[in-house]
Amino acid sequence: MSRPVDALLDFLRGEEARGVTHIHLDDDAKALLRELHRRARAPKAVPASAAVVSRPAESVAVAERPAAAPAEKTELFVPEISAPAAGSAAERIAALAAQAENWAPARKLGTLRTTMVFSTGNPEADLMLVGEAPGYQEELQGEPFVGPAGQKLNDILKAMGLAREQTYISNIVKFRPATAGQTTNNRKPTLEEMASCLSFVRTEVEIVKPRCIVALGGTAAEGLLGLTGSVSAMRGKWYEFNGIPVRVTYHPSYLLRSTSVRDKRAVWEDMMEAMEKLDMPISERQRAFFQQR
Ligand code: URA
Repeated sequence: MSRPVDALLDFLRGEEARGVTHIHLDDDAKALLRELHRRARAPKAVPASAAVVSRPAESVAVAERPAAAPAEKTELFVPEISAPAAGSAAERIAALAAQAENWAPARKLGTLRTTMVFSTGNPEADLMLVGEAPGYQEELQGEPFVGPAGQKLNDILKAMGLAREQTYISNIVKFRPATAGQTTNNRKPTLEEMASCLSFVRTEVEIVKPRCIVALGGTAAEGLLGLTGSVSAMRGKWYEFNGIPVRVTYHPSYLLRSTSVRDKRAVWEDMMEAMEKLDMPISERQRAFFQQR
C-alpha cells in the first residue's frame, strides 16, 4: 500500500532530478514532516566500542531515510579523534585538517564525497561561525562559504564591522553530501554524516576558543546542539557547546531565498546579540538596520 510519505519521496526525487537543491517549508509543513518521520524511523545499530550520543528522533532529512519501525531516540556513533596537543592554534588546526583528509568514519558511510573542506579564517578568532556542509562551490575552491551563501555571509559580517578573515568559519560536516548523478546540486547532511565529523568541530572549538559561536541554520544547530524544530523557535536564546555560548540564526542561503525584511532583521538581531557578547560596539546606525519605517 502506498503511504503518504511515498508520494512525498517521489515528489522530492523529481525535484532533485530537476536540479532543485532546497525547498522552503513553513512551520506547519515541517511539523507534519517531523511527525511522519518520527513514525517511520528505525532504531539504528550502534558499534559497541564507540562513544554514543542520544539525540531526539526528529530530523528534517526525510528524503534520505527509508521508512521502518517507529523509534523515540536515535543513537549516533561519534568517532573520537586524537586532538593535536602541541603548536600554535594555526598549526593545530592544520594538523586536525590533515587528520580529516582521509577520515575513515566519514568515508565508510559511502554517502559523502571524498574532497575534504575543513575551515577558513582566524584560528584564534573570538567569533566562530558554523554551517552545515560544503556545497558545489566550496568543494571546487576547498573553502567553506565561498558560493552565494558565502557572499551573503560576508555581507553580514561586513555590516558587523568584521572581515571574513577575522572570524573562524567552519562546517559540521567536512565533505559535500553526495547525491546520485550529482552536478551542482547540494543536499543537507544526515545525522549520521554529522555525527561522523562532530569530533572535529568539538576539537576546533577547543583549539580556537571562540568567545561566541553562531550556528548558521537548523542543520548546524541540530549537529552542534541536538536541537530540532524550526529555526524561528531556536532563535532568541543562548545555548552552550563545550562551554562556549552559541546563538542560532537563519542560514545565509535562506536569506537569499527570503524576500521578508523580518527575516533579515531577525538575523541582524542575532548578530547584534553576538556582537554584544563579544563586547563589540554597536552604532545607532547599526541598531537601525532593517528597522521597519
Ligand atoms: N552552506 C554551508 O552550510 N556551508 C558552506 O560551506 C557553504 C554553504
